[in-house]
Amino acid sequence: MDAPTSRYRDVYARWQRDPQGFWGEAADAIDWIEKPRTVFDPKAGIYGRWFPDGVVNTCYNALDRHVENGRNNQPALIYDSPVTNTKQTFTYGRVLSEVQLLGAMLRDFGVAKGDRVILYMPMVPEAVFAMLACARIGAIHSVVFGGFAAKELATRIDDAKPKIILSASCGIEGTRVIPYKPLLDEAINLARHKVATCLILQRPQCKAAMTELRDHDWRRVWEHAVNYAKTSACEPVQATDPLYILYTSGTTGIPKGVVRDNGGHLVALKWSMENLYGIKPGEIFWCASDIGWVVGHSYIVYAPLIHGATSILYEGKPVGTPDAGAFWRVASEHKAVSLFTAPTAFRAIRKEDPDATLLKQYDLSHFRALFLAGERADPPTLEWAEKVLQVPVIDHWWQTETGWCICGNPAGLGTLPVKPGSATVPMPGYTIDVVDEANNKVAANTIGSLVIKLPMPPGALPTLWHQDKRMRESYLDEFPGYYKTADAGFIDDDGYVYVMSRTDDIINVAGHRLSTGGMEEVLASHPDVAECAVLGIKDDMKGEVPCGFIVLKAGVTKAPAEIEKEIVALVRERIGPVAAFKLAITVARLPKTRSGKILRGTIKKIADGEEWTMPATIDDPAILGEIGEALKGKGVGG
Ligand code: COA
Ligand code: AMP
Repeated sequence: MDAPTSRYRDVYARWQRDPQGFWGEAADAIDWIEKPRTVFDPKAGIYGRWFPDGVVNTCYNALDRHVENGRNNQPALIYDSPVTNTKQTFTYGRVLSEVQLLGAMLRDFGVAKGDRVILYMPMVPEAVFAMLACARIGAIHSVVFGGFAAKELATRIDDAKPKIILSASCGIEGTRVIPYKPLLDEAINLARHKVATCLILQRPQCKAAMTELRDHDWRRVWEHAVNYAKTSACEPVQATDPLYILYTSGTTGIPKGVVRDNGGHLVALKWSMENLYGIKPGEIFWCASDIGWVVGHSYIVYAPLIHGATSILYEGKPVGTPDAGAFWRVASEHKAVSLFTAPTAFRAIRKEDPDATLLKQYDLSHFRALFLAGERADPPTLEWAEKVLQVPVIDHWWQTETGWCICGNPAGLGTLPVKPGSATVPMPGYTIDVVDEANNKVAANTIGSLVIKLPMPPGALPTLWHQDKRMRESYLDEFPGYYKTADAGFIDDDGYVYVMSRTDDIINVAGHRLSTGGMEEVLASHPDVAECAVLGIKDDMKGEVPCGFIVLKAGVTKAPAEIEKEIVALVRERIGPVAAFKLAITVARLPKTRSGKILRGTIKKIADGEEWTMPATIDDPAILGEIGEALKGKGVGG
């Protein structure tokens, strides 16, 4: 199956023969303060630690070294914001001076090495500067996606216990201005951990009310720092010190704080830019995600800069800002050689402009590859993108936990033949097996649990923030010797990996990872709800959307339609608009097994209009008919 020119098999075999030699060599591409003598210590940490005696600074590798090596005037960041009509280019020299200033501002607020800093920010350059400034001074950032509600932010505040929160007056969603500050104020009120300081970026679209003593105007503090010529030096940190915490949905309402360390992350991301994405330093790379997600952390902020490339920060949508030609415009105008986004963005573009007529207005002759991740790239979308763009379209499999690609098609080593529906092959660092419930490997082409042989590669999570036990329980206990991805899939005869579905209650809505268990907790908190089940059902654009079934308590007199509306509002209020929870359906009973387990899988099949069989263990078969009836006229059904 291999393209004759691909070096993939050789490189992967080289890693298999000598993983430490492989990553030790990759580590040479990083500027260390103290070069690690040990590449991997299997006895440290939960499953071992990478580069344990290395000392480094991530920001130095992303900025200073490029300025010192002739990239001072090269663009580092291109900010393109159709929602504010702004385009700005920041050179490496300029980003460095902004980050030095912001690092000094944070230090003046008392932020020191190891302190946590929460960012609740839209896609503006200051957010990127803030992440890098934290890295510079050894503080640990935790970015919270803007589409989450106050309660979700409060949970993260209580877990991370930040010294300061950086935020902005608003985000802009298409044509709507979304004030962030009221959400931040509410979150701070809800949180038990009391935050003493907030730095607020006032955007012209909306002015935030400031709380005296606690809130500081970003611009004013910045002007003061400029006037006093403040600056900050890079703080040396251990390679194993945390760079950031990123919260992601777990199987309960309490999110998991995925920890990323400095050294392994630097090494893995640098390797991936050249070998996976095929990008050369100086080229322009565009990742159209959000800095609130792992993809945005790794491929808007860190990897392109560590590599000396130029990154595009896009504050807009694939459609509606102003039209379905937005992605083509940005890629053409800024000469991006590759784009990395979620399949849902391409489904949205295809829906609005099925023949890609808008593409004809733009020159994309420099464009080399499209990378998709966040959810499985469905073959029709992948094939459409290939047809209209005439470049390889590469699906690759990722998790917040891994921080970079698990399986992909390495453009830098020579693209392998694309098989639509497959994320292609494991990257060096990853041995993927498919196992059954007893942890036995299954035959090729047989679906099972996708597991990663320990140790995890550099860049992957060493643990969960202050929760080693949960790390073991969530990922390591079920399949001894392996990391459990909680994804199910199979490997074909050519070694291509197919990721088909989650094995837990996580769903992917428009490429956003959400927990249906977390939503069920919200539904169950409604005073009229006796029982509930939330599951992801098929959606043409978002891939999946949540659908909630509720059973009302006996004696409830309020109209079900009214309760359903309240439920929808409650999820929006507690989790946030990003949950895209728009459908609550009242039913008399939920189908269960005789042991009382709700048959979510069967309900999902009915809702998706798929064939289903009556489960042998069902308590009362008549209930499935009732579910089918309740779904009629709700606009679902595959
Ligand atoms: N701040 C505040 N609200 C936000 C937000 C943010 N940063 N991001 C999303 N929201 C809101 C949206 O406005 C929407 O609100 P609404 O219910 O009032 O309309 C809701 O959250 C759901 O957002 P989304 O699922 O993104 O839907 P959408 O209809 O606004 O856009 C797409 C659909 C496909 C265009 C969009 O989801 C998209 O571009 N997806 C790409 C996903 C991606 O980059 N994933 C990262 C992994 S690679
Ligand atoms: P997140 O942590 O938000 O990146 O979401 C990770 C989950 O998204 C994975 O566990 C998968 O379920 C899903 N996912 C991400 N990329 C892919 C892909 N290329 N193919 C299939 N599923 C994917």
